[in-house]
Amino acid sequence: MTFRARHLLGIEHLAPLEITTVLDLADRYVDLNRRTVKQSDVLAGMTQINMFFENSTRTQASFELAGKRLGADVMNMAVGQSSVKKGETLIDTALTLNAMHPDLLVVRHPSSGAVNLLASKVNCAVLNAGDGRHEHPTQALLDALTIRRAKGRIQRLTIAICGDIAHSRVARSNLILLGKMENRIRLIGPPTLMPAGIGAFGVEVFDDMRKGLAGADVVMMLRLQKERMDGGFIPSEREYYHRFGLDAEKLSHAKPDAIVMHPGPMNRGVEIDGDLADDINRSVIQDQVEMGVAVRMACMDLLARNLRAERGRKIVGAMV
Ligand code: NCD
Repeated sequence: MTFRARHLLGIEHLAPLEITTVLDLADRYVDLNRRTVKQSDVLAGMTQINMFFENSTRTQASFELAGKRLGADVMNMAVGQSSVKKGETLIDTALTLNAMHPDLLVVRHPSSGAVNLLASKVNCAVLNAGDGRHEHPTQALLDALTIRRAKGRIQRLTIAICGDIAHSRVARSNLILLGKMENRIRLIGPPTLMPAGIGAFGVEVFDDMRKGLAGADVVMMLRLQKERMDGGFIPSEREYYHRFGLDAEKLSHAKPDAIVMHPGPMNRGVEIDGDLADDINRSVIQDQVEMGVAVRMACMDLLARNLRAERGRKIVGAMV
C-alpha cells in the first residue's frame, strides 16, 4: 500500500498511486458499511476531533460516522458555543485542543489556507474538510470512487464540471484529481463564474451546456456558492436555470449512459432539475453520499497507520 501523507490537506499533495490506495481501501469499507454490524477497531483508543467553522450536513455527519465505525472516540466541537465566539483565534483554539492529545483533527474553515496553517501548529494528523475555495480532498476522493464504481475506471473519461467553478473547492480538488488520473476535463458555466487563467490547467472551457456536454461520460453539477460571491455574478436564478441548469434535454447531449453527480447541498430548479436529481437510472448523488463515509474511513485509517509508525520511530529513536 502506498500512502505517505502525514495530513490530508489537499489532492495537490497526493500521487496517483496514493489516490488509488485510498479508493481500493474505501471499496472494502463500502462492504463493511453495508453489513448490519459496521464495527472495526482500527482507530480504537484514538481520539478524533471535528471542528466545523462552516455549515455542513454530509461532510460532518460522514466524518463522525466514519470515526465511530472505526472505533475512535469522536468529539464534535460546537464552534458556535465555543470560545471562538469570544474572539479566540483559530490557532489558539487548535493549540488548546492539541494539548488534549487528539490523534485526528478534522477541520472545515471559510478561509482558504487556514487548514494548512493549522496543520503546521499541531502534532496530530489533520484532515481538510473544506477550506474556503481552496480544496476539499475527501469530496474529490469520494467522487472518484463513485465514478470508478459506476464506470469501471477513473482514467480516460470525459468529465464535465458545470456551474460555479470560480468559488468551488469541490471543482478545484476534482480538477486536480481527475487531471492526475488522465481524464479529459470540460468546464461549463458563464464566464463570470470561471476562474481567471483557467485555460492554463489543460481543460476545455464552454459557456454552452449542449456543446460542453456532447459525448461526456460524467456530468458533475455544482451549487452557486452565494456565500462566496461579493456581487452580481448571474442575472437571475431563473435565467441561470434556463441556460445552465441540468435537465433531461440538456443531458441528452451527453453519452446515453452518462452519470449525473452533485456534491450537495442541491438547489433544485437552480442548477439541476429535481426529477433528474432523483432519477436513479442517471443520478448517482445518493451513491456519492454512501461513498463519502467509506472514503473518510479509508483516509483516517491510512493517516492513523502513518501516525503510529511515526510515533513508533520516535520511541525507538529515543531508546538508542
Ligand atoms: C460542498 C462544500 O461544502 O464545499 N458540499 C459538500 O461538502 N458536500 C459543496 C457546496 O457547499 O456547494
